[in-house]
Amino acid sequence: MTGLEITVLVCLFLVVALIAGFTLKNGIGPTPSCRRTTDALDNLLPETTDGVIMEFGCGWGGIALYLARKYPENPVVAWENSPVPWLVAYLRKVLSGQDNLSVRYGDFRRASLDDCGLIYCYLCTGQMLRIRELLLSASVSPPCQLVSSTFSIPGWTPMLEHPIGDWYGSRLWVYMLSHQPSSLNALSRFSSK
Ligand SMILES: C[S@@+](CC[C@H](N)C(=O)[O-])C[C@H]1O[C@@H](n2cnc3c(N)ncnc32)[C@H](O)[C@@H]1O
Repeated sequence: MTGLEITVLVCLFLVVALIAGFTLKNGIGPTPSCRRTTDALDNLLPETTDGVIMEFGCGWGGIALYLARKYPENPVVAWENSPVPWLVAYLRKVLSGQDNLSVRYGDFRRASLDDCGLIYCYLCTGQMLRIRELLLSASVSPPCQLVSSTFSIPGWTPMLEHPIGDWYGSRLWVYMLSHQPSSLNALSRFSSK
């Protein structure tokens, strides 16, 4: 084996180990949403929305780019705390020239939700509990919608469930968030198109 081959193997090992380590830490790996999810989002999301659009856990950046292209007038902020997917998402953003998209490295719990109009996530039950804590402690200006793929927020009633149409029967869960922590829950209205 040449020195170059050994270097490449060590680098590959480090990349896989980093991804595996953060998957264990987060309870979910950087599995990308499938095409059916973007088709379902196309049917579900409003034509326009106010404020900042956030993605909690953007993985390799596919949905972040989709949201930035769908809402060119809105700032889109995508958070990712796993270094390898974050770097790929960041490079995709730079190469795409999508100026309304920022890809931030770190835990989404650092996000400021002050001017947030829409949040998208595809995480796991443990991270949904963290989102619930964040939403209960943050000031969220209404109307702010949270759309979660596959995992609902434990203990909260969604305003809407929308089938993704995959083999597993996965759903998009939609919550409308109000600014009152005590009433942060699904409300009875939803401004879908
Ligand atoms: C299943 S992937 C979804 C990727 C992308 N949202 C999509 O739908 O294609 C979940 C991502 O969330 C990231 N993640 C999990 N917990 C996080 C946290 N607390 N802060 C930031 N990113 C997180 C993981 O590293 C992973 O890349």
